[in-house]
Amino acid sequence: MAELENQVALITGAASGIDLEIARVFHREGAQLLLVDRNEDALKKAAREFQGPGHVHSFVADVTRSEMVDAAVEEAARRFGKLDILVNGAGLNYAGRLLDIDDEHWHMLIDVMLHGAFYGIRAAARQMVKQKTGGKIVTLSSAASRVPLGGAIGYCTAKAAVNMVTRVAAVELGKHKIRVNAIAPGETMTPLIQRHLDQPGWKELVVRETPLRRMGETGDVAEMALFLASDRSDWVTGQVFFVDGGQGLRGVDYEELMGSV
Ligand SMILES: NC(=O)c1ccc[n+]([C@@H]2O[C@H](COP(=O)([O-])OP(=O)(O)OC[C@H]3O[C@@H](n4cnc5c(N)ncnc54)[C@H](O)[C@@H]3O)[C@@H](O)[C@H]2O)c1
Repeated sequence: MAELENQVALITGAASGIDLEIARVFHREGAQLLLVDRNEDALKKAAREFQGPGHVHSFVADVTRSEMVDAAVEEAARRFGKLDILVNGAGLNYAGRLLDIDDEHWHMLIDVMLHGAFYGIRAAARQMVKQKTGGKIVTLSSAASRVPLGGAIGYCTAKAAVNMVTRVAAVELGKHKIRVNAIAPGETMTPLIQRHLDQPGWKELVVRETPLRRMGETGDVAEMALFLASDRSDWVTGQVFFVDGGQGLRGVDYEELMGSV
């Protein structure tokens, strides 16, 4: 049986990558979807691949603007009569080292990834509390929320803060039967990491440093999102799930490094 039958999900960042794959998996499982992104052309293109009249709609919104996020939640409730699931996926990747990053780029990273997630959680939770139906909220954090990556100070900081927003929201919303969790992917093949992939040797280095010896695929993350959005995770809240092939373990295998110990 489809796992998300009669469930309404709003997904931000849904025009591309991981969030688009989550939309595909939720659609496969029978959910009705509101796809949200600020990139109107890409969003239109993404929405075209979904079949079935009335089950998938799209809405252009910038998650850094709380009034737009509120409007997206209102749109989901207006079109489908309720909101059961929010996936906060919108994100971007901008390199910046502590000594060089300017105010504008620092604020941009915090705005999209921390404020965007916060606005989404708040708007969805208000709607879910009003409905008295409970709900499921999943935010895309990152393996970089735990491992400090040089050259990514804004990104790491924003994602680390997302983990705490997730935990506090889970504590406050539990009594309303709203579950709030985060997924922290490792390096996953999407347009977000294209500029890294363009660097010779980068992918090989990541694969070598990953215990499961491969890059992540969008489906790896989408299946975890499905688990967190479904009844199968009914007693799970306030957690950050690392879907990273073991990258964040930063373990050392001396025997492998030295031949023997
Ligand atoms: N790909 C990875 O390796 C990786 C690793 C860890 C975490 N993540 C996180 O997963 C999420 C999805 O990433 P992805 O790799 O699929 O990226 P992606 O670039 O393929 O997709 C991100 C989407 O977010 C949208 N977006 C960006 N800013 C927005 C805004 N202000 N308002 C609305 N939409 C906006 C973009 O238009 C794009 O469609 C992000 O939060 C990212 O930080 C990705």
